[in-house]
Amino acid sequence: KQSVVIAGGGSTYTAGIVMMLIENQDKFPLRKLKFYDNDEDRQNIVAKACEVIVKERAPEIEFSATTDPEEAFTDIDFVMAHIRVGGLSMREKDEKIPLKYGVVGQETCGPGGMAYGMRSIPGVVELIDYMEKYSPDAWMLNYSNPAAIVAEATRRMRPNAKIINICDMPVAIKKSIADIVGLESESDIVDRYYGLNHFGWWTEMTDKQGNDLMPKLKEHVAKYGYAAAEGEGNPLLEENSWMDTFQKAKDVYAVDPTTVPNTYLKYYLYPDYVVAHTDPNHTRANEVMDNREKNVFAECERIAAAQTAEDTTIEAGEHAEFIVQLAGALAYNTYERMLLIVKNEGAIVNLADDAMVEVPCIVSKRGYEPLCMGKIPHFQKGMIEQQVAVEKLVVDAFEEKSYQKLWQAMTLSKTVPSASVAKQILDEMIDANGNWWPEL
Ligand code: G6P
Ligand code: MN
Repeated sequence: KQSVVIAGGGSTYTAGIVMMLIENQDKFPLRKLKFYDNDEDRQNIVAKACEVIVKERAPEIEFSATTDPEEAFTDIDFVMAHIRVGGLSMREKDEKIPLKYGVVGQETCGPGGMAYGMRSIPGVVELIDYMEKYSPDAWMLNYSNPAAIVAEATRRMRPNAKIINICDMPVAIKKSIADIVGLESESDIVDRYYGLNHFGWWTEMTDKQGNDLMPKLKEHVAKYGYAAAEGEGNPLLEENSWMDTFQKAKDVYAVDPTTVPNTYLKYYLYPDYVVAHTDPNHTRANEVMDNREKNVFAECERIAAAQTAEDTTIEAGEHAEFIVQLAGALAYNTYERMLLIVKNEGAIVNLADDAMVEVPCIVSKRGYEPLCMGKIPHFQKGMIEQQVAVEKLVVDAFEEKSYQKLWQAMTLSKTVPSASVAKQILDEMIDANGNWWPEL
């Protein structure tokens, strides 16, 4: 049986992860479940509800919540990390500052992602250090954003750490694809995919019998993107902003119809469209604060007051499924095939060894073994190399406390039109981030 700490106990996603863990007790049985957060009040809201949920549905699991690193990281097999350094209020700034200058405002893409990266790096490195100090054999499954920049930073700063960086977006897209091609579950899809986090392309997809799914899929994506023809399907698409992103995949696909894209490429290929369709005074952070955060916290408080979660609306987070699957593969040697963010080292043949890429890997007790995706064409190679350089420059800027490097990173991003716009955004971000950033 496993002992797990969730770092980021106060996240709006945490209760959904707990539900998912409870539902998977047959596949991934727990002896202990701990929450860790540095924001005690926020964590308490979620923890008080989860305590009730665990007591009711899986009383064999010993549950606790703490802000003390030693307590949190001692006797742990897995750290599931999804921290948001600076919280949603800093996410709001990451999104709104670039938009003032007509540039994409997004938590992981463009200048917003870089700003978030500068805050996130020390937070994630700190978690690694706690884990190595108190439970040196544990694995850290990290989906703290911006995953691409965090992965590059941990590769450099903690090269031997047992950390696996992972993102749920490919899984979320594959859920829609399974619907589109008429398969029961996304785990029935065997895919070949290459790129960076939030920046990749599928080249092949078959079902488990080897039947090619691409012709039917492409026909659909060309018309509707990853949304269902009738507009329903994936529960994610109940939110308008996700629906728009999944539909826009149609235009991203049109640029290279030999592959099918990750939805995040819309920010790089259609930044003008994205800016035109974003309200600069009400961004995704506001949507999340007004909806998900309010609803989840109100429900948590209701459960804590009632001391029962029998009729709760909190559901097993679909997006948490992949993290349980990954932990299960590592613990029980399942040799599952999953997309992970790993050192390139030949996985994409004509790309630098030290790029952090997202490719299929075989996961077992040994850890992960990346599969070789071969050589990639000019279009993707050009885009990927530009974006790798941006991510590396951000980590350079962090390590060297370099204004110049961060200005170069912002200037180089495909989402930013010029060095002068990059400079204005950067200067405003330095002010907004204060002590969250090293002094440049
Ligand atoms: C997807 C991405 C994550 C991102 C999240 C944002 O799940 O893979 O990297 O953090 O979307 O979702 P939100 O609902 O907070 O905008
Ligand atoms: Mn992601």
